[in-house]
Amino acid sequence: MRRTLVLLTAAALTAAGFVALSPTADAASTLGAAAAEKGRYFGTAVAAYKLSDSVYSAILNREFTSVTPENEMKWDATEPSQGTFSYTSADTIVNRAIANGQKVRGHALAWHSQQPSWAQNLSGTALRSAMVNHVTQVATHYKGKIDSWDVVNEAFADGSTGARRDSNLQRTGNDWIEVAFRTARAADPAAKLCYNDYNTDGQNAKSNAVYAMVQDFKARGVPIDCVGFQSHFNAASPLPSDYQANLQRFANLGVDVQITELDIEGSGTAQATSFAATVRACLAVTRCNGITVWGIRDTDSWRASGTPLLFDGSGNPKAAYTAVLNELGGTTTSPSPSSPSPSISPSNPPSGSGCTATTSVNAWTGGFVVTVKVTAGAARITGWTVGLTLPAGSAITNTWSATASGSTFTNVGYNGSVAAGASTEFGFQGTGTAPSGTPTCTARQ
Ligand code: G3I
Repeated sequence: MRRTLVLLTAAALTAAGFVALSPTADAASTLGAAAAEKGRYFGTAVAAYKLSDSVYSAILNREFTSVTPENEMKWDATEPSQGTFSYTSADTIVNRAIANGQKVRGHALAWHSQQPSWAQNLSGTALRSAMVNHVTQVATHYKGKIDSWDVVNEAFADGSTGARRDSNLQRTGNDWIEVAFRTARAADPAAKLCYNDYNTDGQNAKSNAVYAMVQDFKARGVPIDCVGFQSHFNAASPLPSDYQANLQRFANLGVDVQITELDIEGSGTAQATSFAATVRACLAVTRCNGITVWGIRDTDSWRASGTPLLFDGSGNPKAAYTAVLNELGGTTTSPSPSSPSPSISPSNPPSGSGCTATTSVNAWTGGFVVTVKVTAGAARITGWTVGLTLPAGSAITNTWSATASGSTFTNVGYNGSVAAGASTEFGFQGTGTAPSGTPTCTARQ
């Protein structure tokens, strides 16, 4: 009976224009959607003051499934005077991300850098108490909203010593790191707790020291769930050849690993090749469950002159973007006029003008992801609008590659123009029951 019901449901969905996801389903056309198909998130660092920039926020909504506040959660931003907390900028990023169905990586609870001046002037037990209070207050404020916290950031020295970095926090006692982790766990038990650092991307004295700490924490039951590898690469500090092996050895300790602040200085094919190799390494490690780039456009980067990101200053995807998308198994879907879809013969275009839309649904109890394929008819179209009916009680929480107004979706700038017979895709995520019924498609020509 169960099998019959499944077959009947599948037949009904197919008849209604819905196609079940299968290995041959169309490839995803955004970083976030492609990474999701690999069971991973694709995130970016976000600056609160840039959210009013429409080019910036459109790319953020379309491409990314996780955000990390670039500076807004740091100690100097969240506790500018001792005991006085300031969450406005960070709240803006967090609430917006949650409304869009994006995960949040909290960054960072305890760090030697970007401390408020009052903390820089403390030492000993006064600083230890201030740190514990800070971790408790901030983690409690964001309780339930954070997927992963960078609990401690950059606590090891560079070079060959494998020692802890000297800092006011380190001078409060070697146990300051585990105290920070235990305090964060008590404040927000559901958040995954990570150690995050740079120059730990390959196997070296610094990463060996972090490895020994994680091994010790796991052995003694200190709560640690993940290790972040910042991965700021350039000519002086390129992608290490043992990057994948290094990620894997940490994963083998029983923690998740993430690429947390990826940027690679350069341009063109060389840069694209390095980005692709970095993504490939993560995909080869089962417990590498997310990648975050440290900004959206080159001009948003902390080292903008190195043009280290996936979008140029105007928001156009670079070769590195396409390389990353392809590595994730996705593909750009708007063919240029000179390269129509190979499945459509120019001498035998489909009949009818306008457009049609078909829908692939991935649904689970309480939620769904819908991918919509928009196909132009016998003539090129310059824009499209797709309408769907949402069941009562369902809501759309996130849309990519389209602008949503209720359950009506309109193309964005780069995917309105579709050649005769060619297709483009957009998608949305929601809560409740997935929509059923044939979507309408209205074209502009
Ligand atoms: O907002 C002020 C502005 O009002 C003022 O006019 C200007 C003058 O300097 O400074 C502005 O603040 C700057 C802030 O970035 C926002 O742009 C700070 O000076 C500057 O120090 C801060 O730099 C940040 C840096 O961390 C601080 O250490 C970068 O944006 C941020 O990308 C960078 O991120 C770090 C990660 O947290 C940890 N890993 C390394 C990574 C790169 O350095």
